[in-house]
Amino acid sequence: MGRKQQTRYQCTECGHVSVTWTGRCPQCGAWGTMEQEMETKAAPTGVAAVSAETLDRVERPSRFPAGIGEFDRVLGGGFVPGSVALVAGEPGIGKSTLLLQVCDGITRQGRRVLYVSAEESLSQVADRGERLGIDTGALEALSRSDTAFLEQYSGRYDIIVADSVQALQDPELDGWPGSVNQVRSVARRLIEAAKVSGTAVVLIGHVTKEGQVAGPKMLEHMVDVVLLFSGERTSPHRILRSVKNRYGSVDEIGVFEMAEQGLRPVAAPGNLYWSNAGGGVPGVSSGIVIEGTRPFVAEVQALACPTPYPYPKRTARGVEANKLQLLLAVLERRCGLSSQNQDVYVNIAGGMQVRDPAADLAISFAVASSLLDRTLPVDLCLLGEVGLAGEIRPAVMMERRLKEAARLGFTRALVSAHAEGEPPRGMKVSRADSLSEALGGIVNE
Ligand code: TYD
Ligand code: MG
Repeated sequence: MGRKQQTRYQCTECGHVSVTWTGRCPQCGAWGTMEQEMETKAAPTGVAAVSAETLDRVERPSRFPAGIGEFDRVLGGGFVPGSVALVAGEPGIGKSTLLLQVCDGITRQGRRVLYVSAEESLSQVADRGERLGIDTGALEALSRSDTAFLEQYSGRYDIIVADSVQALQDPELDGWPGSVNQVRSVARRLIEAAKVSGTAVVLIGHVTKEGQVAGPKMLEHMVDVVLLFSGERTSPHRILRSVKNRYGSVDEIGVFEMAEQGLRPVAAPGNLYWSNAGGGVPGVSSGIVIEGTRPFVAEVQALACPTPYPYPKRTARGVEANKLQLLLAVLERRCGLSSQNQDVYVNIAGGMQVRDPAADLAISFAVASSLLDRTLPVDLCLLGEVGLAGEIRPAVMMERRLKEAARLGFTRALVSAHAEGEPPRGMKVSRADSLSEALGGIVNE
């Protein structure tokens, strides 16, 4: 039975598929991104015999590390030959600096590295390399703005870094560098080169104001690893976060500090976001959140003040607005603490984004402390998830959190009655079943 041939169109931005062409993608609303899908011939079936293998016999490529602990951990142990990683971040955040340092770490292990800059001249790259103290005698670089170099160079290196995917151009395709089609085509060429030659490839990419990788959304689907490099303009700290990793876990983070001689790994960043200056003020509490596999102090600041509006304002920075609403409702209904006539502002110090539910207890306590105008002990950390029934649930990785809290000088912790794990020496741990019980213990102290 013959299958009817059908032309399909796919959005290069979001991947939406349609049988009719439209000027605007009905799913993501992008203009001029619907392109005819390329036909792929189905391989004849039942001809070649396939044989399954037990997993222990599957050959796996060996990774090579960059020799920078904070970077290698995020990558999942190092680069996999033939893999493609996208490192994305805002302009000026330090992507070129980071990758030059990574290249240096790799050449120092006797591997061949090619750094291709489409944004800077070779002398600029060399200047920076010297300032960073890298072994400039071992690192090979090119300043090229098109992908033609691949024909000559792919396969001769262990790794090629392309800085950036938005500045490179596919010479066989019309359009400005950075346009959706160009970015996609440049990425495709580099990915093909990686898969064919076994050279690992790093694409440097810019992000838009909204924090999305600039260019087609599909770029993220095309590569094996996506790392986001970010930081606050006002702080020297930079965070490298893995958001996609076919070879390792995601949500792992690496912490760096931008200094005179480039990026310095911060090995014990637990107090990175902790000013430790809010003591003695109502509305300030501390929780210990886990990012990837590492604990950080989250300093929660809350301010409740009488509202002049018919609908009180709820403003959250670093915490999801829905989370704040939920915790306010729990405080109201389960603990009798009303915020109905109060504007409530919540902020996590240092620009940290908290997604760990174990911060619920610290957020609830910060709000309660402000509503009641009572200060919390500065040496107390709060660890637990708060449910709609007002119950406190245990946080995962309790021992690791408590150990870090003790290391940073906390001497008291409040946790769920059901939390397991041994507290470290010198740490007094109180337990509570519910938020109202926990608040009673502290507030009546
Ligand atoms: P860069 O790596 O050029 O950023 P990106 O490639 O993401 O655009 O880094 C730019 C900033 O980093 C620049 O404003 C200066 C700063 N910087 C330092 O503070 N110390 C250094 O050693 C280097 C190389 C850069
Ligand atoms: Mg750069």
